[in-house]
Amino acid sequence: MSESAKDWNPGAYSRFRGLRLRPALDLLAQVGDLPKGDVIDLGCGDGAAAEALAARFPERRIIGVDNSPAMLGKAQGYAIKTLADIGTWHPETPPALIFSNAVLHWLPDHAALMPRLAGYLAPGGVLAVQMPRQFLAPSHRFLRDIAGGMFPDRFDFGHYHPPVDPAAAYHEILAPLGRMSAWETEYVQRVEAVVEGHPVRAFTGTTAMRPFLEKLSEAEAKQFTAAYDAALTSAYPLLEDGAALFPFRRCFFVLEMP
Ligand SMILES: C[S@@+](CC[C@H](N)C(=O)[O-])C[C@H]1O[C@@H](n2cnc3c(N)ncnc32)[C@H](O)[C@@H]1O
Repeated sequence: MSESAKDWNPGAYSRFRGLRLRPALDLLAQVGDLPKGDVIDLGCGDGAAAEALAARFPERRIIGVDNSPAMLGKAQGYAIKTLADIGTWHPETPPALIFSNAVLHWLPDHAALMPRLAGYLAPGGVLAVQMPRQFLAPSHRFLRDIAGGMFPDRFDFGHYHPPVDPAAAYHEILAPLGRMSAWETEYVQRVEAVVEGHPVRAFTGTTAMRPFLEKLSEAEAKQFTAAYDAALTSAYPLLEDGAALFPFRRCFFVLEMP
């Protein structure tokens, strides 16, 4: 599969812009006053949070960082757009705020990653993070169960560990560094009917499902998708109008450095 086929699809991703923006706004609402410095939107994607960040911090330079050329290409509202992998990225000057919405679950070893990011901040700076914590819910568990059952040569989740821990774990890791606030919220999302397939799949298809589809041929993907749709119907029954209720758990924390 080519690199571009592996890249994110900003058009499909933005279909649920409202549902995806809400947690970003809830996170931003918990960020207080900032010291001097830039605002970094880490894993900025197509720039969904740029407008809210600019409205909140109108005098600041807002920098978007992402490793997807397609997403970064769409992103607007940043003074600087940096194509970089968060695994190796570091800021040029100590930022006032590192804001990261729905990104860091793609990166491993949070016990090392989060303190590293906090260490880049200016004194009094803030690290604000939101990550989905949906990995044991049916929407995400079905992906692993079905892929492992259908294609055991490519998928083995025998030692699976969810990439995001409970909010309390981040509190424990980061509280020694500064003032911590951590919480979780389950959003009861209404996902509207789609022409083809289950509406929950329309949501996960552009994010959680991507690493699975990348490893499948077109015919295999079709088979996999049909099985996933059927399983979703049992866990998220369709409402009369074809929409579904899709409870979705998210983990948040805000660390304020001394
Ligand atoms: C679910 S989107 C979230 C985008 C945006 N923050 C928002 O709230 O809509 C995840 C983004 O993280 C980016 N991403 C994932 N892993 C990354 C990495 N290792 N380095 C940089 N960006 C990464 C993807 O390219 C994608 O744009």
